[in-house]
Amino acid sequence: MAKIDYFTEERSAETVNARMGKAISPRLREVMTSLVKHLHSFVKDVELTQAEWEASIDFLTRTGQMCDAQRQEFILLSDTLGVSMLVDAIQHRRPEPATENTVFGPFHVDGAPILDMGANISLDGKGEPCLYEGRVLDLDGNPIAGARIDVWSDNSEGFYDVQQPGQQPTWNNRGVFITGADGRYWFTGIKPVSYAIPDDGPVGEMLSALGRHPWRPAHMHFMLNHPKFERIVTHTFVSGDFYLMSDAVFGVKDSLILDYSPSISTEVKWKADFDFWMVNKNSQKLCHLKAVEN
Ligand code: BEZ
Ligand code: FE
Repeated sequence: MAKIDYFTEERSAETVNARMGKAISPRLREVMTSLVKHLHSFVKDVELTQAEWEASIDFLTRTGQMCDAQRQEFILLSDTLGVSMLVDAIQHRRPEPATENTVFGPFHVDGAPILDMGANISLDGKGEPCLYEGRVLDLDGNPIAGARIDVWSDNSEGFYDVQQPGQQPTWNNRGVFITGADGRYWFTGIKPVSYAIPDDGPVGEMLSALGRHPWRPAHMHFMLNHPKFERIVTHTFVSGDFYLMSDAVFGVKDSLILDYSPSISTEVKWKADFDFWMVNKNSQKLCHLKAVEN
């Protein structure tokens, strides 16, 4: 008679994984086998107590209960544990000089107005005006026409419009710009300020229990889309910001730190010049094919 594989401390992960059906998706098998293996190994490593296990279940329950259409506490948990940045890094390994991605964050809103080049996205008139300009290029340095650039930032008090409905004008510090044949973009916004991520829920509790702060260094968000090029989701960070070395969500990369320089124009106080380098989707496919061949 076949030996029954009852659950034991020693073989716990193997026993759980052996229960999987034969005809399941190979990827699901791969992911779940590893998840169970690492989860069991973590519990063994720290010898998790019953009280700690109950506190973990309560923490995850409250994290779920905090979520609604406006608030995604689980993404915040992933962000603050560095998981969002790790998934992004693995999925978006790009050749030089392509622009690097960073964390998407919860404050992007679909459907922002498409504006004429040069428009001012700061609708509340607060903050220090800044001219953002640059080019959208392929990896050979050719301009890309028809790139859709979605931009969003906090206001001068450190809040996105969606965090202060009724207080800030709708679409404050947001807009979409589409490049012409020269690949250039330019618009006026404000020099963003550093702000704390929402910390009034379980993630905030976790950060303070760990002696961590909830602050992000000042940044302007950009998302670039073009049918022929890989999407870029990124920020430009303000050089010299106090929180560059301790971003609560680990989003800072050297290549994304930008000097916001004083402007000589009387209309804006600052200038932020940044070129975006996009990867052609076909060249990515070729790279992949070469990697598979070798
Ligand atoms: C943001 O930059 O908007 C953001 C990113 C991650 C968590 C919270 C906010
Ligand atoms: Fe942000």
